[in-house]
Parts: sequence; structure tokens; C-alpha cells
Amino acid sequence: MKKIGLFYGSTTGNTETAATAIAAALGIGNVTLHDIAETPPETLSSYDNIILGTSTWGFGELQDDWQNALSEIENLDFTGKTVAFFGLGNQYSYSDVFQDAMGILYETVHKKGADIVGAWPTAGYEFDESRAVVNDNFIGLALDNDNQPDRTPQRIEQWAGQLKNLFQ
Ligand SMILES: Cc1cc2nc3c(=O)[nH]c(=O)nc-3n(C[C@H](O)[C@H](O)[C@H](O)COP(=O)(O)O)c2cc1C
Repeated sequence: MKKIGLFYGSTTGNTETAATAIAAALGIGNVTLHDIAETPPETLSSYDNIILGTSTWGFGELQDDWQNALSEIENLDFTGKTVAFFGLGNQYSYSDVFQDAMGILYETVHKKGADIVGAWPTAGYEFDESRAVVNDNFIGLALDNDNQPDRTPQRIEQWAGQLKNLFQ
């Protein structure tokens, strides 16, 4: 397997903690972690295997550091790249916009030719609407550390196990 570039944006640290746990689950030597707040967006282009992680803020908006990087990411070509997503959100307080930021990143990268992997079932969550749901599944791993922190480690283990076979 080629090296995986894991890029995350995190305001209060939850997505960063999840990013570290995902890297550990995939095998620390397989993954390079990048905080998008400190990384030029074109760095994404140096990987064929990419994981993008974001929390959702405001009302269904991208995390701030991703928002700042978005216009540059829109100009990158993802043809031939394998991309997976994870998100942090709050399903009870933001039931109509749960994980929307993961959906925004997905829409951006999907449009630019990426091969998307790592869909995740919606069973086990309670919410009304999400921009991150496509064909009845989340387009990536949905984590809710505000309400279900005890489920996060097992969700990460299971998702990472699936991903290992899907990257190039
Ligand atoms: C002011 C505020 C707005 C939020 N807006 C949303 C939202 O629209 N949708 C959602 O799913 N979660 C929302 N959340 C929950 C955060 O995404 C969640 O707390 C997340 O774990 C934060 O991750 P971070 O520390 O990596 O930024 C919001 C939280 C706060 C405090």
C-alpha cells in the first residue's frame, strides 16, 4: 500500500484526536498527518491515498481551516486519487445539518474525479437530515464525540479495517 496522507481541520481538538486514532488503527507508518491549518492545500496532490477529516460548525458549515483552504482545493485534480472522509458532529443539537461539512468536502472532491471509498451505515445514529448521506449511507465515517464518545474507538477500528483493503 502506498503512503496515506490524512488531512484534518479541528477547532476544539476532537477531529485532531480522531485523526491520530485513525492513523494508529491504519498503522502509524502508513499515514502522514497534516493539520490543514498549517498545510498548503496543494500538498494533497502529493498523495494517491487521501483521508479528509472535518468537524461541522455554525449551522452545517465547514470547519474554519477547511473553509480557508476550499477555493484552492476546488482547483486541484483528483483523477486517479482514492479518497476517504471522516467527520465529527453532534446529531442531537444539529439534527438537520448533522455532519454537513463532511458532505461539503465530499461534493468538492467528487466533482474533481476522485475515487471515493469508505462509506458508513447510518444505523446507530439519530438525526433528521445530513448532506453527508448519499444513497442511504454516510459517505464516510461519522463520529459524534459530544453524544457517543464511547462508540468512537470501535467505529474507528472497524472503519480503518475496511479502508486498508480499499487503498492503492
Ligand atoms: C457552535 C457550534 C456549532 C456546531 N454546528 C454543528 C453542525 O452544524 N452540525 C454538526 O453535526 N455538528 C455541529 N457542531 C458539533 C461539532 O462539530 C462537534 O462538537 C465536533 O466534535 C467539534 O470538533 P472539533 O473540535 O474537531 O472542531 C457544532 C458545535 C458548536 C459548538
